[in-house]
Amino acid sequence: MEDTFFITTAIDYANGAPHIGHAYEKVLADVIARYKRFSGKGVYFLTGVDQYGQKVQQSAEKEGIHPATFVKKNTKKFSNLCEKLGISNDGWAETTNDLHKSCVQSILSDLEKKGQLYKKAYKGFYSVRQEQFLTDKERNDKGEFGPEWGEVVEIEEENWYFKLSEHAEWLRQAVESDALGIIPSFRKSEVINAIERASDTDLCISRPKERLKWGIELPFDPDFVTYVWFDALINYISFAGYNKEAGSDLPEFKELWKDVVHVIGKDIMVPPHAIYWPCMLHAMGFTDEEMPTLLVHGFWTAEGEKMSKSIGNVIDPMAPVEEFGVDALRYFLARNIVTGKDSDYSRARLAVIFNDELANNLGNLLNRSLKMTKQNTEGKVKVTNYEDESCLELRGSLKKVNVEYREKMEAYDLAGALELVNNHITLCNQFAEKHKPWELAKDETQSERLAMILYHMIESCAHAAYYLSPFIPESSLKILSQLNLKLEDKSVSEMKWGILTDGQEVSKPKPVFPRISL
Ligand code: ME8
Ligand code: MG
Repeated sequence: MEDTFFITTAIDYANGAPHIGHAYEKVLADVIARYKRFSGKGVYFLTGVDQYGQKVQQSAEKEGIHPATFVKKNTKKFSNLCEKLGISNDGWAETTNDLHKSCVQSILSDLEKKGQLYKKAYKGFYSVRQEQFLTDKERNDKGEFGPEWGEVVEIEEENWYFKLSEHAEWLRQAVESDALGIIPSFRKSEVINAIERASDTDLCISRPKERLKWGIELPFDPDFVTYVWFDALINYISFAGYNKEAGSDLPEFKELWKDVVHVIGKDIMVPPHAIYWPCMLHAMGFTDEEMPTLLVHGFWTAEGEKMSKSIGNVIDPMAPVEEFGVDALRYFLARNIVTGKDSDYSRARLAVIFNDELANNLGNLLNRSLKMTKQNTEGKVKVTNYEDESCLELRGSLKKVNVEYREKMEAYDLAGALELVNNHITLCNQFAEKHKPWELAKDETQSERLAMILYHMIESCAHAAYYLSPFIPESSLKILSQLNLKLEDKSVSEMKWGILTDGQEVSKPKPVFPRISL
């Protein structure tokens, strides 16, 4: 496909169970992927799990099982989550996959041949929790390594390094010129500051096997495995067909790697995604035009508090899906956060948003308009000559949504797009209250006006169903089927007045959004 849009999420660490932050990132990427498909674009959507590293090795040891068994068990939880959430991923990355391993090793060999890697001895402080060496820059005001680093030990060992510093100047230029896209742009300064640090420090990309066995072996030095971040980042190209072996059924890399967006959380922007990754790509020979865009989202807290295993307040996303349904959670995760900013997960807030915007607003409009159409115009949309100011106003409102929805979605402002749709539906219900079609139905002389009022209401429901389809695909399909419409029949550029035509048959209403009572 010529202009495939390639979107990825971070690969979730298979060291535990999914939480609401993982669910959010997948929903965010899924809404974007579905929107791009609705725009007529070819899309490839990759998500998956990150399975190597010291933390996994330690957790598996604690449970007395092999790390491979341990990650298999946790991986299942993440793939189940994707299924439950209706995530429409095309690819699935698991870093213990042999295809990934051989790709990582081929890249390491190439970089070594190019002189981008070297071996040296290093003595220093190491954070076991963060799996990284610490420098004096990581010391706090008291000159200590704070509790955020967990257990810190002094070690001396030989390791392999990637010449990160050689790429620092290039990276600064790539960030300043937006060759490496960073969304939202307010995060650019954070990246520029971090480049300062990279300019005099290379990246340690190996771990001695005596300390860590659970990783990908360096092809030119079997005493070492690859540092987990170096291997994990490569998933974005290994599962896209980079350096693939003949006969592999992975995608064609050259066709995929054009318009690339990595959806990640703010904690893993600096240094891995905004520093290591572009420098790795640059060292491999990727040009400025071939740099990806980072879409950096904020963090969710849980009922007003930071989620933590020790507090025991980690939100399992399966719970709200079981309780309220997948679309209630998807709608909330897209609606209750500004892309790039933080937000708070609240069960009560989820219920309020669902009831206000879906059950009471859109659900009500759909039910009342279909019910009256069944009763008054034989279940058929009837276009007549009635016209007044409020009809003009309603069509004007929809026209504005037709333009602005696309602008918001192209800018990844999901909440803004939903707000537009919801505001239009509110106007439609006000329109209904004003004309009182249930009163018009009692007066035969008002039949032209009644038909036209119902037509305006149903036409708006049709638009809403299409516009909401990236967000709440199951519910949108239910609405479209009541209107005898098909999702695949329209693309976003065809969203304009006239989706429904005179004589179009519609069904009797079946409630799509049953009210939540807490
Ligand atoms: O970082 N709110 O994995 P991970 C929103 N394996 N997003 C959150 C969040 C929260 N409270 N907590 C985490 C890793 N995330 C690595 C990634 S990519 C080559 C390797 C986001 O399971 C986090 O920012 O800790 C990241 O984007 C994703 O969840 C996976 O986090
Ligand atoms: Mg993390």
